Amino acid sequence: MAKVHEAVDFSSLLGNLDGISDAQLEAHFGLYNGYVKKLNEIEEKLESTDKASVNYSFGEYSELKRRYVVPYNGTYLHQMYFENLAQDGGEMSDELGKAVSETYGSVDEYWADLRSSAASTPGWVLTCKNTRDGRVMNHVVYEHHVGLPADQEILMALDCWEHAFMIDYGTKKAQYLDAFVKNVDWGVVNSRFKV
Ligand SMILES: [Fe+2]
Repeated sequence: MAKVHEAVDFSSLLGNLDGISDAQLEAHFGLYNGYVKKLNEIEEKLESTDKASVNYSFGEYSELKRRYVVPYNGTYLHQMYFENLAQDGGEMSDELGKAVSETYGSVDEYWADLRSSAASTPGWVLTCKNTRDGRVMNHVVYEHHVGLPADQEILMALDCWEHAFMIDYGTKKAQYLDAFVKNVDWGVVNSRFKV
C-alpha cells in the first residue's frame, strides 16, 4: 500500500520564531518525521499481520491496534503545533476571546489555566471546542493519546514534551511557555474556531 501519510515541510519556521531556536525546531522536525514514518509502517503491518494474532496480554495484531493512535496523534498533533506557530501571529479573535472568557472568566484566566495545564502534563495541552456544549477548554494529554475527552475540536496544540524545549530552556518549561505565547499564529487558531 502506498504511504498514506506525508510529512509537511515546516522549514519556513526556521529563523522566524522568537525564543524557539532553529536547533530546537530542527530536532523537533526530526521527531515529527519519525512519527509519520512509524504511522505508515503500522498501517502497512496491519494489512499483512494475521488478524488472529490477538491477545489482551500480547498479540502482534493487538499491539499494532493498541499503538496505532500513538504515531497517528504524534503525527497530526505535531502538524497542528507547527501550523499554529508564527512570529507576529496577530491577536486572538474577539469571538474566541469571548468563548474562553465564558469558560474561564477572562482571557488572562484562560492563559493562567493553560500554564497550569502545561505544568500538569509531560505531553500536550490542547485548547479545544467541545462540539457537544460549545465550551472552549484546555485539556491535558499524556504521551500523545491519553486523557482527551470525547467531542473535542482542537483549536490550539501546545507541545509540552521536554523534547519541545530542552535544547533552548533545559528544564525551565515556564520560559518555553513564555516563548510559545509570543509565537502563536492566531490566524490559524482563530480560523480553527468556528462559532
Ligand atoms: Fe513534540
